[in-house]
Amino acid sequence: MSQTSNLLHNEPLRKLVSEMQTLPSLPSVYRELMQILRTDDASVDQAARIISKDVGMVTKILQVVNSPLYGLRGKVSNPSHAVVLLGLSTIRALVLSRNVFAQFDQSKLPFFSLEVLWQHGMAAGVHARAIVKEEAAEQTLTEDTFTAGLLHDVGTLVLATNLPDQYTEMLALMQERDISEWDAERTIFGATHAEVGGYLLGQWRLNQTIVNAVAYHHEPSYAPAPVSLALATLHVANAVEEETQAAALGTTFAPMDLDYLGACGLIDRLPLWQAICRDEAMSRAGC
Ligand SMILES: [Fe+2]
Ligand SMILES: [Fe+2]
Repeated sequence: MSQTSNLLHNEPLRKLVSEMQTLPSLPSVYRELMQILRTDDASVDQAARIISKDVGMVTKILQVVNSPLYGLRGKVSNPSHAVVLLGLSTIRALVLSRNVFAQFDQSKLPFFSLEVLWQHGMAAGVHARAIVKEEAAEQTLTEDTFTAGLLHDVGTLVLATNLPDQYTEMLALMQERDISEWDAERTIFGATHAEVGGYLLGQWRLNQTIVNAVAYHHEPSYAPAPVSLALATLHVANAVEEETQAAALGTTFAPMDLDYLGACGLIDRLPLWQAICRDEAMSRAGC
C-alpha cells in the first residue's frame, strides 16, 4: 500500500476522490482568466497571478504539470512555476476544455464561501512560508510549505461540494457538541477534511512533503516519521489563523499539538513563530 493510500481508510470517500477530475473555482476568477486569455497580449505572469487566487485552479494546474505526461515526477509545487512550465497555449486549452475548471455554484451551497477558504489558505501559506524562511529552509522546502498552506483545507472543498447535506449536518454537530471540525467530520463522514485533502493531492501527484503536511495539519503527532518542518510550520500557521478567527467570532478553537513541536525539537521556537504570524497578518491587513 502506498503512503497516499494509507491516508484515507473510508472506502466510499476514496472512490469519490479517486474519480474526481476537477474542483470548483470561483466564477469571478474563472471569468477574469477567460478575459485575459482572450486578449492577444496575455502574459504568463498575468495568468499565473489570476490562477493563484483560486484553490481549485491551483490544485488542478499542479496536477496537470505533475502528471506523467510532463515527466517531472511531482517536482513542481510552485503554482507560478507550474503556469510558466505549461505555457499559455496549454492553459488556454485547459480553460476551454469542459470540466477542467468547473465553476462553483454558490446557490447550491449558501453556507460555504470559496472566497473565505482561499483567504484562509493564503494566510496560512504566507505565514508558514515566513516561518520556514526564518528557519533558513532551502528554496524547495519554502515553496512546498507555501503550497501546502494554500491548499491545506482543499478537503473541505471536496466534502462541502460533493456531500453538501452531510457537510451541513457536520457543521450542526460541531456547534451542538462544541467539538472540533475534525471530530465532527469523523462522526459524519468517517474521515477528516485533512485526510481527504491529503489523499486527493497524493492522487494528483503532488509531492509527499505537501501531501503529509496537508493530511496531518490538525493532528501532526499522527504523521509518519520522520518529523517534518513543513508540517510543523503549517500546523502552527493554521492554528494561529484559526485562533485569530475564533477571537473575532467569539468561538472556541483547538489547542496546538505541543507534543509534536517538542518531538521536532522546535518548541522553543514557538513564541517567535507566533510573532512572525502576527506580523505577517498585520502587514497583510495594511497595518
Ligand atoms: Fe483544516
Ligand atoms: Fe485551516
